[in-house]
Amino acid sequence: MSALDGRVVIVTGGGRGLGRAHCLALAAQGATVVVNDLGVSLQGHPEAHQPSPADQVVAEIEALGATAVADGTSVTDWDGMADLVARTVERFGTLHAVVNNAGFIRDAMLVTMTEDDFDAVVAVHLKGSVALTKHACAFWRQRAKAGERVTGRVVLTTSGAGLFGHAGQANYSAAKGGLAALAATVALEMQRYGVTANAISPVAATRMLAAIGRTADRAADWDPLDPANASPVVAWLCSEESGWLSGAVLRIDGNTVRRVRGWTVEDGYTAKAGRALEVGELGLGLRQLYGAAPVGLGG
Ligand SMILES: NC(=O)c1ccc[n+]([C@@H]2O[C@H](COP(=O)([O-])OP(=O)(O)OC[C@H]3O[C@@H](n4cnc5c(N)ncnc54)[C@H](O)[C@@H]3O)[C@@H](O)[C@H]2O)c1
Repeated sequence: MSALDGRVVIVTGGGRGLGRAHCLALAAQGATVVVNDLGVSLQGHPEAHQPSPADQVVAEIEALGATAVADGTSVTDWDGMADLVARTVERFGTLHAVVNNAGFIRDAMLVTMTEDDFDAVVAVHLKGSVALTKHACAFWRQRAKAGERVTGRVVLTTSGAGLFGHAGQANYSAAKGGLAALAATVALEMQRYGVTANAISPVAATRMLAAIGRTADRAADWDPLDPANASPVVAWLCSEESGWLSGAVLRIDGNTVRRVRGWTVEDGYTAKAGRALEVGELGLGLRQLYGAAPVGLGG
């Protein structure tokens, strides 16, 4: 018995890189996989492929003796994502998990970024993840209300840029930060229906990472930047067993999975009792809060 026997999972951007590795790992654990991929370039521009990246991954999965189908809908197509959920349920009888992974980058410093590059990157990562997640959650909610036991799983793909910032990626980091927040909100909204939502922050030598100057360590026996390193965590998050964990962000680097703690509200500076904060006291108050030296002492 494998962790995902009988489970049906949609993976977006499943034709290459991390998505391809997730599809293969999910299939190896017994899942039926819907491999969604638009087959675009690293910057999101159309590319001709025959067969398509999604078709190639389906062939790899079928060679393992597992079941998969390809889908070429853009994740940014709101109604298209509704149709994808409906087609999956029609074909396989149900849906258990969605892995939101599709994306591309159009890096530029904020001052030189075009409106189109901002909109396109936010659309593919943030709107694309919301679109599929929304329609999957609507399906699970309806099944739960009909009395069915639901074990829905949403996996979102955030990144170090989204969690900590990255110069030259204002569009990408804004979208990826939004996905970490989305996991927290979907977790709260869907808990009552048996659905969890978690985000992963992977590090992998794909064409995307190569674009910012990191490549695989080919000399090592074991590749710490292999995209497949993140996939066991994705597979586990899609399993029934993971039902106790929701709203989390997990960073996977090599063979370590780390818990990322979200924003925390810590010590404060409080105005004297009975009155609101005043501008005049904030200079010193915030310096105390941040441990900075008071003005006149080297600050
Ligand atoms: N590589 C890393 O180290 C890293 C780090 C953090 C986060 N990520 C995230 O992981 C995900 C996968 O990245 P990757 O490195 O494997 O990139 P990749 O370019 O190898 O794969 C992305 C895939 O998404 C597909 N895609 C793009 N736009 C699409 C759309 N509108 N609809 C459907 N499919 C679409 C592409 O065709 C491509 O096959 C991305 O969300 C990326 O931001 C990657």
